[in-house]
Amino acid sequence: MSDNGLVNLGVLVSGNGTNLQAIIDRIEAGALSARVACVISNKGDARALQRAEKHGIPAIHLPYKGFDGREAYDAELVRILKDHGVELVVLAGFMRILTPVIINAFSNRIMNIHPALLPAFPGLDAQKQALDYGVKVSGCTVHFVDAGCDTGPIIIQAVVPVLEDDTEDTLSQRIHKEEHRIYPEAIRLYSEGKLKVAGRRVVVG
Ligand code: GRF
Repeated sequence: MSDNGLVNLGVLVSGNGTNLQAIIDRIEAGALSARVACVISNKGDARALQRAEKHGIPAIHLPYKGFDGREAYDAELVRILKDHGVELVVLAGFMRILTPVIINAFSNRIMNIHPALLPAFPGLDAQKQALDYGVKVSGCTVHFVDAGCDTGPIIIQAVVPVLEDDTEDTLSQRIHKEEHRIYPEAIRLYSEGKLKVAGRRVVVG
């Protein structure tokens, strides 16, 4: 918690940053008692960094190159996040697997959003996996991050239909719309102290 009662967020990104934007917009609309303390990207050309700068948020490029292993990289991430007083780490399209170095430093304080209804279709290309499998509904999942790949306790999910003529692109767009709704919502629940992790379950309320 920062001095003014807002939850300090550290958002990790690699790409476009539309989820970051949705979070910023909700904060600026006064609907989320949080503050984006910093945005960190492993990619220098991530549009998300420009979005952060536009809103006066510290935008940090931390390339993996030059680090002696994933643990060393994550240790630097932890240092920067702590330096900025971050309480909750928000993964928003961050295309790196986290090691226990950061997961343990922010235990049950790292959220991720995944573009499928977990535990279906974890990992990369979730929308393509859903289309290839032929499911009739898919969606998105916000979850706390544990040591596995997209395996942590689930906070909120949203469902969208999969249509006959969907392409990866049209399905992704439909899912993205829901992501922009449920990610700020999950952060709001956290900021109001309404999320309790009990084993695999997140009790809301
Ligand atoms: C989203 O589809 C999210 O589910 C996945 O990465 C994508 C990030 O999109 N983890 P954006 O950069 O927020 O637009």
